[in-house]
Amino acid sequence: MIRTLFASASALVLATAASAQVVGFSQIGSESGWRAAETTVTNQEAEARGIQLQFSDAQQKQENQIAAVRSFIAQGVDAILLAPVVATGWDAVLEEAKEAEIPVVLLDRMVDSDPSLYLTAVGSDLVHEGEVAGQWLVDHVADQPCRVVELQGTTGSSPAIDRKTGFENAIKGHDNIEIVRSQTGNFTRAEGKTVMESFLQAENGGADICALYAHNDDMAVGAIQAIKEAGLKPGEDILVVSIDAVPDIFQAMAAGEANATVELTPNMAGPAFDALKAYWDNGTEPPKFIQTESKLYTQADDPQAEYDRRKDLGY
Ligand code: AHR
Repeated sequence: MIRTLFASASALVLATAASAQVVGFSQIGSESGWRAAETTVTNQEAEARGIQLQFSDAQQKQENQIAAVRSFIAQGVDAILLAPVVATGWDAVLEEAKEAEIPVVLLDRMVDSDPSLYLTAVGSDLVHEGEVAGQWLVDHVADQPCRVVELQGTTGSSPAIDRKTGFENAIKGHDNIEIVRSQTGNFTRAEGKTVMESFLQAENGGADICALYAHNDDMAVGAIQAIKEAGLKPGEDILVVSIDAVPDIFQAMAAGEANATVELTPNMAGPAFDALKAYWDNGTEPPKFIQTESKLYTQADDPQAEYDRRKDLGY
């Protein structure tokens, strides 16, 4: 009797493990606190659903992501999550996944491939994020002259392309606001700092800079350090507006050293797994784009409380 019970229990465990969906996740790397949080949350969402996640860290290289996707296809996974480091060059490997009938879901960044080559994409409206950041500056400086320096994200990535477009849309027609320098900081704190140092040097020690627009908070946090080392007050002498809403930008806001950020939720995997479940269960085709919210936070939004709320979320 006991033997039979044991046999059926282990058979059950084996069956459950065997029936667990296996999902390959090609992550870009961990260039920012936001990306680290996305990885943490994706693991948590998979675990909560009993999904086996095969994780691959591409160290910022597209060729590593393409190799990872090919290895997931060879393993015969049930689906692939892809956070594409850049927007171009994915057609071939996406076609291979389609031929293998493995659904691909894009997370937080877009590709220029035909949408028929992936199941859906979960992400924010990246242009809108830039517009929200730009509109904050327009409202804040009114008709005062404002020379802006811009820290761009990874060259060729959809957030760098679209967040630049969005910000320019917002300041269009406001001739008092002008982007005078713009360069990539690759979404990292270290490069945000070094590029800002070069901007400060080139702009009269920073005296000619009114505002910094950074495509993510991590670059802004690095730049804030450079502004302070130049003897200026970030958030006052130089306004700071960025995107992501990571805990450290709220700490800077609470200290008056940053002014505004546009939130990007790190939970892209939740909606992705929900769409995959409906697709696996009954073939439901999700919409091609599942949009996440882009909320603006400023110093008026109790930044210390926002910091406390987020500091343990894996950023
Ligand atoms: O694709 C989203 C961006 O990637 C985040 O804003 C940034 O922090 C990360 O590098």
